[in-house]
Amino acid sequence: MILSALMAILGIAGATTAQIAVFPQPEYIDMSQGEYVVTDKTKIVVEDGMGTPAARFAEDMSQWFDSARKMKIARSGKGIKLREDKCIAEEGYELTVTPDGVVVIGGSEAGVYYGLQTLRQMIVAGGGRVPCCYIADEPTFAYRGAHLDVCRHFFTVDQVKRYIDILAAHKINRFHWHLTDDQGWRIEIERYPELTRAGAVRKHTLIGRPGQGLGYDSTPHGGFYTQQQIRDVVAYAAERYITVIPEIEMPGHALAALAAYPWLGCKGEGYEVWPDWGITPEVMCGGKESTYEFLENVLAEVLELFPSEYIHIGGDECPKDRWKECPECQAAIKRLGLDDEEQLQGYLVNRIEKWLVAHGRKMIGWDEILDCGITQTANIMSWRGTEGGIAAAKRGNDAIMTPSGYCYFDSYQTRDREGEPLAIGRWVPVEKVYSFDPFDKLDDEQRRHILGVQCNMWTEYIADFDHLQTMLLPRLAALSDVQWATDRRDPATLRERMEVIRRFYDACGYRYATFYYDGKK
Ligand code: ACM
Ligand code: ZN
Repeated sequence: MILSALMAILGIAGATTAQIAVFPQPEYIDMSQGEYVVTDKTKIVVEDGMGTPAARFAEDMSQWFDSARKMKIARSGKGIKLREDKCIAEEGYELTVTPDGVVVIGGSEAGVYYGLQTLRQMIVAGGGRVPCCYIADEPTFAYRGAHLDVCRHFFTVDQVKRYIDILAAHKINRFHWHLTDDQGWRIEIERYPELTRAGAVRKHTLIGRPGQGLGYDSTPHGGFYTQQQIRDVVAYAAERYITVIPEIEMPGHALAALAAYPWLGCKGEGYEVWPDWGITPEVMCGGKESTYEFLENVLAEVLELFPSEYIHIGGDECPKDRWKECPECQAAIKRLGLDDEEQLQGYLVNRIEKWLVAHGRKMIGWDEILDCGITQTANIMSWRGTEGGIAAAKRGNDAIMTPSGYCYFDSYQTRDREGEPLAIGRWVPVEKVYSFDPFDKLDDEQRRHILGVQCNMWTEYIADFDHLQTMLLPRLAALSDVQWATDRRDPATLRERMEVIRRFYDACGYRYATFYYDGKK
């Protein structure tokens, strides 16, 4: 008591830093005397247009208060006031706490929502007591993403929504939904019903890693989302200011589609939804016109479901073995005057991009598409290190950084792997995530092309939702600092803030890995 009084007199914020210990790190914090206590009786006072952030906040807080009652949303009175002010940056906010109440002013509804996320973490950290302060904050990256592969293992709509909740708490604004792959097609396409009839289930799944010879389990694995469910998830995400970016993989990682419609492949027969992990030589035929017709028809339905300006078309890991032997692919290479199979993939990607742009959207592809010749408007997702993103930025293309060594959350979290379930490999502890510099090797002009940062969650070795959460948390907290504002990272406060966010995860009922907390890496 004496120490904290002394610190208060001296203006040292030490006694209260834990209560302002939030992720991502805000830009500016000014502490002052006193506190405001938030209870389930505190009102949320809104101006026009603030209904959505207010409702989300009341909902989130009701899970934390030990009572069934929800905070009331009112048009006037004291409490937590929400309003918009266009003078503040689009996703920015100002949060002022005085003994009389809280005011959150955002540059948009999203900005208010982010201010409330900061407030929520402060409320939980302080057990309802929020220290008086002024916080001004805004992100430097417009794209703050998290990905989920629902093909290797399927996750239900409810689980996907809970995943989105976790992303929202970290101020992430893009959910990259990996919906199609060799091991399962997960999105209903009305024109092609076999995709989710034959393509959504594999008859069994590899045990252990490829090449270990452990055989297969004897359990069919499958699942897909109806268009109605997709709309529901997209709307759910939008109410949390998250845009869902669908990924439809082409021309590789598409064996489930070939199993449903064998004419999509070069051989035209003999395909089944893949029970293995890795890269299969069975890919879509790049020579047949019917492939392009299929892709455009599928994408037409995808665009109806997803308002996102960005649409992800995959483009990674496409072996050219079949194309080399396929008369149709070879004829296309000749007809189009291309040098080789790599350029045929370039043709496919560019043709699909042109179609997307004609329909008012922008294309994202994995960095392999750089190797086959891209247009000036293609967006690159850099995963094989940062080299793809750097190359893209240098040639004037926009890029999103998701290098596997820092942003692949399917990786191990400890060096000795003791006590960790089987994972794909690598070593990506919290500290490694936190050390990621998305601007490395780029000058100011090139940095403008880095749209943002994303973590990727491939699920070959992640079969259930509890496990999924422990791969995501607490690494996502560390990444959220990089995503929100790389330049503001402060390793000195990382440990203290990680301790605080852990209590927030406990309060939300989220599962998280404890390696970092146990001092293990
Ligand atoms: C990837 O990890 N194959 C994009
Ligand atoms: Zn072919």
